[in-house]
Amino acid sequence: MNNLLFNVENEVGVITINRPKALNALNSETLSELKQLVGEIEKRKDIKVVIVTGSGEKAFVAGADIAEMVNGTPVEGRQMCLLAHEAFAKLENIPQVTIAAVNGYALGGGCELSMACDIRIAADNAKFAQPEVNLGIIPGFGGTQRLPRLVGKGRAKELIFTTDQIDAQEAYRIGLANKVVPKDELMSTCLKMAEKIISKASYAVTLAKSAINTGMDVDLASGCRFESDLFGLAFSTNDKKEGMSAFLEKRKADLKDF
Ligand code: CAA
Repeated sequence: MNNLLFNVENEVGVITINRPKALNALNSETLSELKQLVGEIEKRKDIKVVIVTGSGEKAFVAGADIAEMVNGTPVEGRQMCLLAHEAFAKLENIPQVTIAAVNGYALGGGCELSMACDIRIAADNAKFAQPEVNLGIIPGFGGTQRLPRLVGKGRAKELIFTTDQIDAQEAYRIGLANKVVPKDELMSTCLKMAEKIISKASYAVTLAKSAINTGMDVDLASGCRFESDLFGLAFSTNDKKEGMSAFLEKRKADLKDF
């Protein structure tokens, strides 16, 4: 991989977008690498949480690569958009929990990458924006879809139409960021949250993620039906037996993977 770093420790995989000279801008090669890497992570039972971050002090990801797009044709623009959709949808739906560690600028495609993660933790120097209409384009890596789902239609429209850059506190206030932490504590906070999630019944966490993701895209009745199927499926696990028995026996549960 030319543009990504990846390491795994204590069941946590860390993906680092690594193009610091271009503030980690996402070009097609990086998107292809991300899609491939996420496909590999998806199959790994030894990884329970994935943290996505950017290389260097300044940026998480400063957007799609403008230098690549500047001479692009409509067909090439669409292809890049579809490639990002594939990579981000894969990331959004892997069985592992994903946390975006937003360590600086999360602009355009960067904000969109963070929104494809389950949880966003922002360093206090993080800045979010969807600046595409300054460039004569629209958010194309899912921003017109995921931003309104996260912060509501009105706020999403304001952010996209004005291109206003918001700081980490404002992102937290509107529900775009889950938490704001001093930048030196960003990784330790993400790892601590990862550790907490890993200590739970991990198949149940995966089922809950699937129920939430699927439910957000269907009507309430269909979502609830899907939830009931997954709830039933959870009853087939040893963790359900152990978790409930431990509660009734007033002891700590020894939860495993299933
Ligand atoms: N694409 C390509 N290169 C980029 C980039 C991007 N999105 N963002 C930054 N860079 C490059 C700069 O061109 C510069 O390269 P050189 O050193 O070779 O000149 C380098 O990164 C450092 O950037 P700056 O000198 O601009 O750094 P700065 O501190 O003055 O400004 C910034 C930082 C405010 C983030 C500024 O770089 C910026 O505004 N970047 C573009 C942000 C943007 O418009 N993003 C949206 C892209 S479109 C998109 O993402 C579409 C979509 O929905 C998928």
